[in-house]
Amino acid sequence: MSNPSEAELIHMFKGIPFTTRSSPELLKSLDNFDAREDDVLLVSYPKSGTHWLAGVVTKLYNTQVTLTSPIEFGDLSKLEELNKLSSKRLIPTHLDYNMLPANFKNKKCKMIYISRNPKDTAVSMYHYYRDNPNLPTVDTWTAFFDLFLKGDVVCGSWFDHFLSWEEHENDKNILFLFYEDMKKDLPKTVKEISLFLGLNISNNKIQEICKKSSFSEMKSDTEKENSDSSHTVCALTSNRKLIFRKGAVGDWKNHFTPKQNRTFEEIFNEKMKLSKK
Ligand code: A3P
Repeated sequence: MSNPSEAELIHMFKGIPFTTRSSPELLKSLDNFDAREDDVLLVSYPKSGTHWLAGVVTKLYNTQVTLTSPIEFGDLSKLEELNKLSSKRLIPTHLDYNMLPANFKNKKCKMIYISRNPKDTAVSMYHYYRDNPNLPTVDTWTAFFDLFLKGDVVCGSWFDHFLSWEEHENDKNILFLFYEDMKKDLPKTVKEISLFLGLNISNNKIQEICKKSSFSEMKSDTEKENSDSSHTVCALTSNRKLIFRKGAVGDWKNHFTPKQNRTFEEIFNEKMKLSKK
């Protein structure tokens, strides 16, 4: 059987490419989404460490919480499914700030945004494109590099996504995190998250959470199917086995040519003129 064509896998909504796993009807209806004040959003551009963040956050709660599938994944029945949940909801999403249902903003729901060096994000996404049957085929890293810089990939431009959220970095209900900081000092980030969520967590518990959230533990849990292997926090797949690849900082150095690095830096500097970073 031949691979599905790009047109069968991707559709555009408000100028951003989505996979057909996010139905246009659902995307349209998100504007009317009924948020609850105690909802917590886990927000990211794909391949920035969403599952890692979700792994940490779910372990912080003693009370019953439900980690839902991403808000933009599925069809119209999604809204009903989320409405029915009686427990506190942790809701992942790859939506940019402008597309986020207004109700989350009006109700000042807590939101955690995780970001990662876009060069490593691009490399991680390249491998995801190659391994994930829900995404179009890319033949080479060079071809993917060009698509990524043009924002011609699912969820659109990394730069636009980051900037849309960075503008709200100082909003009291938003916590901004970096993958690289989590790699450097996970206990520090876990403490920061727990304070933000208003949870009182002992140092011992933090150490335990960090141990259980290491790349090797999370990967082997998924392989041993200690966790539900058909539940992800990424709207682009339900197969957790596609998530845990390398978990490293700096893998871009194994992919970028010196010329690609110069091109990336030029575009980065231009696009990020508006950034405070
Ligand atoms: P790589 O492809 O570079 O390995 P997301 O969860 O947003 O889809 O991001 C996936 C990326 O986060 C993958 O990057 C994955 O390996 C990495 N990752 C997942 N869990 C991790 C962990 N516990 N520690 C470090 N990196 C992790």
